[in-house]
Amino acid sequence: MVSELAVVITNEVVNDEYRHLVARCSKQAATAAPGQFFQLLCPQPPGETPFLRRPMSLYGVDPVKQQVEFLYKVTGAGTRGLDMLQSGDRVDIMGPLGVGFTLNPAWTNIVAVGRGAGLATLAPLAKAAKENGAHVTALLSARSPDLLVSAELFQRQGMTVISITDSEATSGPANVERIIRGLIGEGRCDAFITCGSSRLTRVQQRLAKEFAIPGQVALEQQMACGIGLCYCCVRDFNIDGEIVSRRVCWDGPVFDLREALV
Ligand code: FES
Repeated sequence: MVSELAVVITNEVVNDEYRHLVARCSKQAATAAPGQFFQLLCPQPPGETPFLRRPMSLYGVDPVKQQVEFLYKVTGAGTRGLDMLQSGDRVDIMGPLGVGFTLNPAWTNIVAVGRGAGLATLAPLAKAAKENGAHVTALLSARSPDLLVSAELFQRQGMTVISITDSEATSGPANVERIIRGLIGEGRCDAFITCGSSRLTRVQQRLAKEFAIPGQVALEQQMACGIGLCYCCVRDFNIDGEIVSRRVCWDGPVFDLREALV
């Protein structure tokens, strides 16, 4: 883990809500893996004082170019500050932090289900899965088609994308379960990876139990220190029938799908 001043390469508008930040970083920062995150020190927008660093999951990484990428939604003082960054500016990043996804080489057909900011967390999986020889069927959920992000990244790696949106009434748990049952029936689901929706995570937990399919979930949680010291990110998990508390920033944010209480 390093804390350093990365140099902003681009910080562009993706759609009404999301921005895409690309920054040049050290070799060490560029070792970040899918599911890990960085703590970003956000610039101060006029009249506002973001107090804590903001946890930001890794959207992309290029160890050769020494670049990290983040996809963020402008929602408060911190992300309004990030939105002010321009090419050549410096941004204070601390990371990579946490435990990311572990892709079992035996998984050849992964079903990835993401919604909202969770779509950013799942994005780097496409490349990692391809390198592992696995195919991903990505169910990407958003309020409307214009807010779907990451679809292109999955498609560029030859993965299958199924878009599900509120505006088209396709994102409900019943429809998602129907789609996933179809994939299981066709032998196209030997693992689940998910982030961004408790409802859809519960659907996958049910199916994981019914069909004995393994999986991992990246949990989204308010954080302060991001390095395991303050205990503000503690969540409960069911480990073999025993309720155990764990720090999302330190023990996760990626956990066994069947153990997470969501
Ligand atoms: Fe401080 Fe997790 S954010 S322990």
